[in-house]
Parts: sequence; structure tokens; C-alpha cells
Amino acid sequence: MSESSTPTTMVIFGATGDLTQRKLIPGLFSLFCKGFLPEQFAVVGFSRTEWSSDEFREQMLAGMKALAPEMLNKKAWPDFARHLHYTPGNATKAEDYATLQTFLTELEGGAANRLYYLATAPNFFEPIVTQLGQAGMVAESIEPAVWRRVVIEKPFGHDLASAQALNQIVHNVLDEHQVYRIDHYLAKETVQNLLVFRFANTMFEPIWNRNYIDHVQITVAEAVDVGHRAGYYDQSGVLRDMFQNHLMQLLAFVSMEPPTSLQADAIRDEKVKALRAIRPLSPAEIARHTIRAQYEGYSTADGVAADSQTATYAALELYIDNWRWQGVPFYLRSGKAMCTKTSQIIIQFKEPPHMMFTIPHDQPIPANYLAFCLQPHEGFHQRIELKEPGREVKLRSIDMDFHYEEVFHPDHVPEAYETLLHNALDGDATLFTRGDGIEAAWQVIDPILDAWQSAAAPPLTTYKPGSWGPAAADELLGKNRRRWRHGCLDEATEGK
Ligand code: BG6
Repeated sequence: MSESSTPTTMVIFGATGDLTQRKLIPGLFSLFCKGFLPEQFAVVGFSRTEWSSDEFREQMLAGMKALAPEMLNKKAWPDFARHLHYTPGNATKAEDYATLQTFLTELEGGAANRLYYLATAPNFFEPIVTQLGQAGMVAESIEPAVWRRVVIEKPFGHDLASAQALNQIVHNVLDEHQVYRIDHYLAKETVQNLLVFRFANTMFEPIWNRNYIDHVQITVAEAVDVGHRAGYYDQSGVLRDMFQNHLMQLLAFVSMEPPTSLQADAIRDEKVKALRAIRPLSPAEIARHTIRAQYEGYSTADGVAADSQTATYAALELYIDNWRWQGVPFYLRSGKAMCTKTSQIIIQFKEPPHMMFTIPHDQPIPANYLAFCLQPHEGFHQRIELKEPGREVKLRSIDMDFHYEEVFHPDHVPEAYETLLHNALDGDATLFTRGDGIEAAWQVIDPILDAWQSAAAPPLTTYKPGSWGPAAADELLGKNRRRWRHGCLDEATEGK
């Protein structure tokens, strides 16, 4: 039986939660409409709420109408809804796994692949994986050829020790090839394009190193504040919520060595090597190279402790100790309640070694940069210098740019969860994080979290909601005569 002709079931743990309605069902529905799901495909929701399958279908339709109306193809929905099923159960109770197993076997009526999706709160990851193992529900077979895969949502651990412990539990039950740890940033089209940009063009790779690059900036700014997630967020903070996963993954993609192939493990090996080469920071360096800040008004939000020290913004200066990157700072920043939503990577090249042209004395020597815009307008800009027309030799900076939306039809840019679900069903783990990759990222973040709890912590500063963050973050670059660039946005906002 070929993979696509084998019946496939996706079991969603935490099926009544936000993620299922917001991301999973719209992603699956889109795959269904494009004909990418196996012919015999079932989605089984599993949660404590006592819903029937019909109620599950109604709730998912209501979710589509409210959260993804532009994707709701009303003609196709009834056909898709026939694939949706639900059985109630408690993910921590062994007897409920027996009920689930019976439900699945009756539904499948024979050999079937299974994708278990853990869309629950993180404290359920361990019991679910253990129970699945004890119930014998993750054993794969060659004849008939069926696979068992488990998708694990973030956060994977809340520090290095808990991530290692969770990996241990996962590996007691599953082989690494069965595990798909999600980081939705990896499925953003521009992130994948970074690989193509770097390794399918000969002109960039030779200059992608300390000889030509002055520094790298990675910005993931969000305009939203913590909203209704304050209870979770106050325990987590920006380092766990955004840096350990998304920003570390972006850093790995930008800095890794060329993999020998596009095989998942070839790419993941290189990413892990890059993360492991990040220089560990001593507490004194953490005080100098990291900025932590909280937006004004955060501590009055529902669910936040009045004296909360949780950072909603962080900026880090990191170094990668290898031949390619020695001495090149990587500046990373992310925060909530900032002036705009943008995710971008700036590769700032060095100044020309000798400036023959006259430039105003109060202006810095212009230097090229490349800006990768991950969102909202996916694409990239290349900043170069040109001569303005006229007798005088006057320089002008201009951007050569490319935007996905101008070149490709919007339907050609799938949403991140759609891509990830498709890949997990296809058995392609390239865009999922391997166990050692998760631990390598925690290895960088853990000492910073510890130092931030100690007397050596940098001061917790504040910033105004709707700004670019605290002044201290500007000083982090300013001390070396550098500045944050807002490259993908209107240049009019630069420097503000
Ligand atoms: C999630 C974080 O992983 O990423 C959220 O938990 C954050 O706090 C979100 O808002 C940002 O994702 P995106 O795709 O909107 O940039």
C-alpha cells in the first residue's frame, strides 16, 4: 500500500481548545480543498468536554466562520465535515485510552496510519506520550506498512532540565523519527526561502561571513499585548515565549553552514552545530549584553502579579564562535505591545573600506544591507548605493525589493500550520525541531533566565506601548555606533 492510499487518522488531543479552531481545522480544510489529504482520512477530536461528533462539526464550522471566514469554501465544507469525528476522554486516564483505541479501530476498520497531535497545555505532553506508549498505540509496522507520528506543540520544556526530561520521556516511548516538535516560524515561506536564497544563488554565500558582514539583526516585534494569555505569559516571559524557539531557529537558519542535502537530518545537523557554537555568556556579560523590559501598564493586566518582573521585551547580543562568524554580533530583539507587527532579519554589510565620494559630514558612511521580511509583507530588500542624476556625484540609497504578494498569487503562500500539517502527514521533518536542537536552544537561553533571576540581572526597564521598545536596546547597538534598522518598513520610520 502506498502512503497516500493508506487510510490515515489524525487524533487531536485538546480538540476543544483555541489552536484546533484557529489553526488546525483551517489548515486541514485548506489541504482538503487542494486535494492534498489521503482519500481515506479521519480527524478525531479527543478532549474532556462531552461533545458528540455532530457537535464537534458544528463547533469547528462556527470557528471557521469566526476565525477564518476567508478560507471557508461553503460548498466543500459538508464533504470535509464528514471526515470529522469526536470522542470524549481524559488524557491522563489509562481507561480512556482503551475507549479511544476502540473508537479508532472501529472507525478505521483495518490498518491505518496515525498522527497524534498534542494541542494541549504543556503539562499534558508527558502523560499523553506515556499513556499512548502504555496503551500500545504508537507501534509502527512494516506489514501492513503503517506509521505512527506524534506532533508536539510548544513550549517544549520551560528550561533546559525540563526539556531534557521531556525528551527522555518521549524517547522512552517513541523513536526520534516519529516525533514532530512544532515551531510555526519554520513554516513561514520566507524562512524556507532563506535556504534557497543562501544556497541556490552563488553570489551571496561567498560574502556570508565575518569578512563582509558587520552584524546581523533579528527582530520579531508584535503590536499585540499579552491580552487574555496573561496567566500563561506572566510565568513564561518573552525569552521562553519567543526566543528559545522562534528567534533561535531564525538565528540557526541564517548562520548555519551549507547542508549537504535537503534531507531533514542534514539540515538539522547544521542548525544544531550553529546553535551549539553560540558563545555562553557569563553573568557579568549577561548584564552587559542583554536588555529586559516590560511595557508600561503590563502589571495591571488581569492575571499578572502586581510586582511582576516578567520581561515582555528582550534584546540580546550574541556571538557565534566559529570561523565564519567570529566577532560578528547577532542582535536579537522581540517584544509585545510594540508599534507594529514585523518579523525581519537584517544582514548588515561592512562599510566600504575606502570612501572616495563626498558625503555630508554628519552622516555615517552608507553600507549595504539585506532585509528579509518574514511578515507582514513577505519578501526581501537589498539596500545599495547609487548616483543621483546630475553633474555632481551625489549618493542615494535605494532598495531593490521583491514581495511575494506582487509576484505570486496569495493562494500560493500557504499558512504556516497548513504547511506543517502537510509535512507531518508526508513524513517530512525538515521544518520540525529535533530533540538535540531544542536542547541546544535551551542551552543558550537557560543561563540568561538564571542570571535574570539573580543579583547580576540587568535592570528591568520599561517602554511605552506602541513604541520600538526601551532606549536601553538602542544603546546596546549605539555603544558600537550601530542602530536598529526597520528595513522592511517604510524608511520614513527608520531611527524613530
Ligand atoms: C507564539 C507565541 O509562539 O508566537 C505568541 O506564543 C506570539 O506569544 C506568536 O504572539 C507570534 O506568532 P506570529 O506567527 O503571529 O508572529
